[in-house]
Amino acid sequence: MNNDIEQYMIKEKPYYRAVSDEIELYEAAYSVRMPMMLKGPTGCGKTRFVEYMAWKLGKPLITVACNEDMTASDLVGRFLLDASGTRWQDGPLAVAARYGAICYLDEVVEARQDTTVVIHPLTDARRVLPLEKRGELIEAHPDFQMVISYNPGYQSLMKDLKQSTKQRFGALDFNYPSHDIEAEIVAHESGVSADTSDRLVSIAERARNLKGHGLDEGISTRMLIYAGSLMARGVTPVVACRMTLVQPITDDPDMRDALDAAVNTFF
Ligand SMILES: Nc1ncnc2c1ncn2[C@@H]1O[C@H](COP(=O)(O)OP(=O)(O)OP(=O)(O)O)[C@@H](O)[C@H]1O
Ligand SMILES: [Mg+2]
Repeated sequence: MNNDIEQYMIKEKPYYRAVSDEIELYEAAYSVRMPMMLKGPTGCGKTRFVEYMAWKLGKPLITVACNEDMTASDLVGRFLLDASGTRWQDGPLAVAARYGAICYLDEVVEARQDTTVVIHPLTDARRVLPLEKRGELIEAHPDFQMVISYNPGYQSLMKDLKQSTKQRFGALDFNYPSHDIEAEIVAHESGVSADTSDRLVSIAERARNLKGHGLDEGISTRMLIYAGSLMARGVTPVVACRMTLVQPITDDPDMRDALDAAVNTFF
């Protein structure tokens, strides 16, 4: 992990449209360095929100995409062998704690529980990170904060956070924005007209009612932006919608018919 913390600064203001009072609540949480958990379905704005908050607070942001093969060493650091012998290399969590970044663990439930527990001493009153192999105890920089994202839809009994992890975090619930706000976001991000983005959101709203009735997840804001982006490049609306809103999320012929019908209603 490169220790040059400057590279993690967000230089340009990310576009983020507030949906409720999440910006103020996050700022309050950050002011006491409360670890935060962002919950919500895929593609609803969690990552964009963290980027925006890091920019607004003027702090570096270090993001780690979690997966089940990840080990504690991948987060904390390890000794590397090179020509001159062994050399310690900080992992992303150690860099964030040492230099005062916001550390964002994306899809944290994907990590095994024995990996997740390494964040425990950093996310309680101690705010320390023991580097056991190196015999060092990092006292977290005053600016350091831990943020995790979590999609409540995908949890199973096997894949969930321990209560002892959950109870170290404050949580913000994210969801698809209300109709007008979502249409504003889709228009801004894809470049389509207000009328077109309004129709795209209406399709999504229909499809979201199918969640749990054959669809695992509704059509996300991200997918609507994909559809809009193709349309803004001249792809026919129905074709763009089929490619981005229908075909990715289901292979079930009946579900595809239902989604196609929603598309045809609005385009
Ligand atoms: N409130 C918002 N303001 C601005 N853009 C938004 C907002 N919500 C969603 N978006 C747009 O939707 C896209 C998808 O959002 P994002 O990547 O943040 O989703 P996510 O919740 O992190 O999804 P995942 O769980 O799959 O990582 C963003 O790239 C952005 O263009
Ligand atoms: Mg994300």
